Amino acid sequence: MDKPFSQACENNKAPIFAHLGPLLADKTRVLEIGSGTGQHAVWFAPQLPHLVWQTSDVAENHGAINAWLKAFPAANLLPPITLDVSRSAWPTASFDAVYSANTVHIMAWPEVEIMFEEVADMLPPFGLFCLYGPMMYHGQHTSVSNQQFDLHLRTTASYRGIREFHALNTLARNGGLILVDDHPLPANNRLVVWQKA
Ligand SMILES: C[S@@+](CC[C@H](N)C(=O)[O-])C[C@H]1O[C@@H](n2cnc3c(N)ncnc32)[C@H](O)[C@@H]1O
Repeated sequence: MDKPFSQACENNKAPIFAHLGPLLADKTRVLEIGSGTGQHAVWFAPQLPHLVWQTSDVAENHGAINAWLKAFPAANLLPPITLDVSRSAWPTASFDAVYSANTVHIMAWPEVEIMFEEVADMLPPFGLFCLYGPMMYHGQHTSVSNQQFDLHLRTTASYRGIREFHALNTLARNGGLILVDDHPLPANNRLVVWQKA
């Protein structure tokens, strides 16, 4: 299979990693939810040789992820497991960090709720949930381009859309996840980090 290519991933992988890498310095096993093309995984994992990076996604994206893993193998980078947050059995292996990029505006809100519940259940004390993507604050978009993107998302499927940071933070708090960082990144995106109490 040819490797599908995401220009956004190429653009955002270095800025994300500059912030994410230090956060994962003492972590041992990371679950990535919605790995997409796998471009983040193949860029991040070799720079984090002290931990294991587990890719995951819905089954139809496994071909793409495997193609990227084949082109850029790393000893600590695992092929994707099937994880549809609302339909799959969640992995029984233990993870002390979860990373997910650009997923909550694609999932339906009930799926987002399930993801937060399951991540909160799965993480041990001090485990991290790192979520990257565009967010709204107090009902306002952070840029005109995000507002346009939100409209585009809602046109493609009415259940999609840029999520309200405070609604996500409420889901996190309900699961015992404490907000430790909300970091601005290029192109009006955020890296939000919660820690299990
Ligand atoms: C916009 S892509 C982002 C991919 C990649 N993380 C990135 O930043 O380029 C959204 C991803 O969310 C995944 N996704 C959507 N709904 C999902 C669900 N219910 N469970 C797990 N993953 C889901 C899609 O399969 C896709 O890989």
